[in-house]
This record gives sequence, C-alpha cells and structure tokens, in this order.
Amino acid sequence: LIRVTRRYRFPAAHVLSNPAFSDEKNQAIFGKCANPAGHGHNYGVEVSVTGEIDPQTGQVMPVELLDRLVDDLVLQPMSHRFLNDLDAFRGKVPTAEVIARVVYDLLAPEVVARGHARLARVRIVETSRNTAEYGEPT
Ligand code: NI
Repeated sequence: LIRVTRRYRFPAAHVLSNPAFSDEKNQAIFGKCANPAGHGHNYGVEVSVTGEIDPQTGQVMPVELLDRLVDDLVLQPMSHRFLNDLDAFRGKVPTAEVIARVVYDLLAPEVVARGHARLARVRIVETSRNTAEYGEPT
C-alpha cells in the first residue's frame, strides 16, 4: 500500500469553551482561548489517502478529485468562518483534535465512494506548537 498526503490551508476563528462549564472552569481549562471574542488561526490540513497505485494513472487517487472533495466539504464551508457556529461543530469544542476528527468523518465516506482509495489520516496544524491527527496509525 502507498500513502499519499496533500496539504491545504484555511483561515478560521474559534473560541475554546464549553457552555456547560462556569467561566472560571473554562478559564482554568482553556486559558486565553476561552476569551468569548474568539481568535483566528491559519489552519493547515494534511489529508492522507492510502491504497494501491492505479497502473493506468500512477496514482492512488486522482489529485483533482481529492482537491474537489476537500474544497467542497472542508475549505469552502470552514474558510473565514467562526467554527463554533457551524453545524459540523454543534455541541463540540472546536479544538485541533475535534477539527481533525470532524474533517476525517466528513471526507472518509466520500473518498471510499469514489474509487479504490481510503482516507488514512487527517492532520490539523493549528500553530507552530500544536497539531492533532486522527485516523490510522502510521
Ligand atoms: Ni485557538
């Protein structure tokens, strides 16, 4: 099997807080990230697909197809948005790990439905110090 990774970017804002917690508890858990004014990140998204190489194309999955799926399901709906307001994050705290899981769950069935590849991993790069991955172990 071959694993192929493609990188994307999108800017978005979020607040890290749980509405069920007190302000003090949110502050204790999330610190400055709980500030209700929110803050932005230029998120990096790494999407890895795995499968056999198609001998006719030399590819695991057509790059154009993967780009279109990521654009339709992730970049367009999430770019320049307040993530906490999106349906995909309803009832969730949009941390890097939750974003990785949500993006994985959005993409995985669509990748499988369109060919012989499957989604192996989604990695979210939030800051130079903070990344999260969801999917199969490397
Ligand atoms: Ni943040």
